[in-house]
Amino acid sequence: CGIVAYIGHREACPIILKGLKRLEYRGYDSAGIALLNGDLKVYKKKGKVSDLENFIGDQATHAHVGMGHTRWATHGEPNDSNAHPHYSTSKRIAIIHNGIIENYAALKTVLQGRGYEFLSDTDSEVFINLIEDIHKNNNCSLEEAVRLALHEVVGAYAIVVLSEDDPGQLIAARKGSPLVIGVGENEFFLASDATPIIEYTNEVIYVNDYEIAVIKDGKLDIQTKEAVRTTPYIQKLELKLDAIEKGGYEHFMLKEIFEQPRSIMDSMRGRLIADQNHLMMGGIREYANKFVAADRILIVACGTSWHAGLVAEYLFEEFARIPVEVEYASEFRYRNPVIRESDIVIAISQSGETADTLAAIELAKSKGATIFGVCNVVGSSIARASDAGAYTHAGPEIGVASTKAFTAQVTVLTLMALMVAEKRGTMENSRLRQLMVEMENIPAKVEQALKLDAKIQHIADVFKDVPNFLYLGRGYNFPVALEGALKLKEISYIHAEGYPAAEMKHGPIALIDENMPVVVIATKDSSYEKIVSNIQEVKARKGRIIAIVTEGDDVIPDMAEFVIEVPAADEALVPLISVIPLQLLSYHIAVMRGCNVDQPRNLAKSVTVE
Ligand code: G6P
Repeated sequence: CGIVAYIGHREACPIILKGLKRLEYRGYDSAGIALLNGDLKVYKKKGKVSDLENFIGDQATHAHVGMGHTRWATHGEPNDSNAHPHYSTSKRIAIIHNGIIENYAALKTVLQGRGYEFLSDTDSEVFINLIEDIHKNNNCSLEEAVRLALHEVVGAYAIVVLSEDDPGQLIAARKGSPLVIGVGENEFFLASDATPIIEYTNEVIYVNDYEIAVIKDGKLDIQTKEAVRTTPYIQKLELKLDAIEKGGYEHFMLKEIFEQPRSIMDSMRGRLIADQNHLMMGGIREYANKFVAADRILIVACGTSWHAGLVAEYLFEEFARIPVEVEYASEFRYRNPVIRESDIVIAISQSGETADTLAAIELAKSKGATIFGVCNVVGSSIARASDAGAYTHAGPEIGVASTKAFTAQVTVLTLMALMVAEKRGTMENSRLRQLMVEMENIPAKVEQALKLDAKIQHIADVFKDVPNFLYLGRGYNFPVALEGALKLKEISYIHAEGYPAAEMKHGPIALIDENMPVVVIATKDSSYEKIVSNIQEVKARKGRIIAIVTEGDDVIPDMAEFVIEVPAADEALVPLISVIPLQLLSYHIAVMRGCNVDQPRNLAKSVTVE
């Protein structure tokens, strides 16, 4: 979600609407604005900021204080009532919120018991009613009520709160979700990133976790949650408007690659807590009997999502002992496939709009199969057409070449496979527990893998002008080889092929000579010795080996021209880590070749035609 707020001498509404447009890449399923001019007015609408603008039309918007929100749904489907801002029950205070309140259900039950009313399904409405409850019961200032409320909520937030009883005041706080304050002449701008601020002022303050900012009578006061006053550090932004639109990154793709520790974590949030033995996905629980009884899973997808499906094939077969078939949606739908009522079809799609995938599930549905959607876009067509599902919480992906959506898909599919295995009793309890713990460690390991960036940039420079690339992997790393090759061809236009390493000798080996770069994903796993032999085969033909290995590997470095060491992980979870250097390699090669990384030629982010 994106949030914007303004307090000062200008008209607030146009500043906020313009700011929301700049933040729209953060989510665009609904938008809303609250304006404080004597009374507190809220306008909100499902859809884009332009839909909100049309809705406001020529209604009165005069105000010098206001806030706005553009939403990417987490709790509750995108509709008018789930859109922000949210009023408290008294309608005297309102909130905009970016983040997730994890203990919202417990808080909501308590508040409902005290007579608070809820008009939406959001966790944010719980937050504002909690603030109102504390405000009333403690007879304290609103600022104090916000501070006390922060002690009760668990989760992530960046919030702004406005109250009819304090017309010249704006309160904001953050933990986990970003919040920037722009400092102008007797005016202040608040936003999720500096994009909406930069055209008014280049002086900004980044609010820290657990800080509360109160702006009143033209003055800014920042205190911690423990009521200790801090001295705000004003930074001068040197970034240009168009650069900051990518959050300071040169391209959306790079930003999205670097967001992965976070997006993987977001995709596990609330679903996995290893030390509490908690593994729960609502959609699976709902269809537990189907999954337990299933004698086959069909996975349908396109592009990168199809590669995530291949990883899932290995996961479901190993953990849950259910036979899996992974299908290109476009082939499946046209070949008169055998579909049974007992089949579970898992449709994987970042956008949730891919036409072939949608058609494939409609076909499967007509034959009585159960459809389970794994989508990134809330309320998308595939999500709506599915019987049940699990969202990936990667956040909006703007770069056409998919990166963080892939790792979020693999994360969700891994949790699904583990949960189904638990229900079916097909896995040793100790192994299940061990994998749950390991899953929680993945974001930190991805973070570590991202530190390889400089080294990979150097390798990219060496190979940027070659016409061909070969990618090899075995087992769980075979789909990673395919994905690495796809990334390279999509954005750098270098021809690349991914292959199962052992299959190389049945064809691609003919391509190998002293000019052929071969990326071998050879992390320590059950087929390690086998892939070492495959590396020997490439080396014997003078191929140029770039090996992705597990940290501390002392065999492959003697054989390869370049080695990239990634942190060790259970082999079933390795794709989440081994894909990172391949994303970076394709990114840097494409940049060095002068390609349009975010909008590669001939491709589209969401393919709604077959
Ligand atoms: C397009 C995109 C790919 C994506 C594929 C499937 O080709 O460029 O990045 O993997 O569609 O899209 P979906 O939204 O269904 O995952």
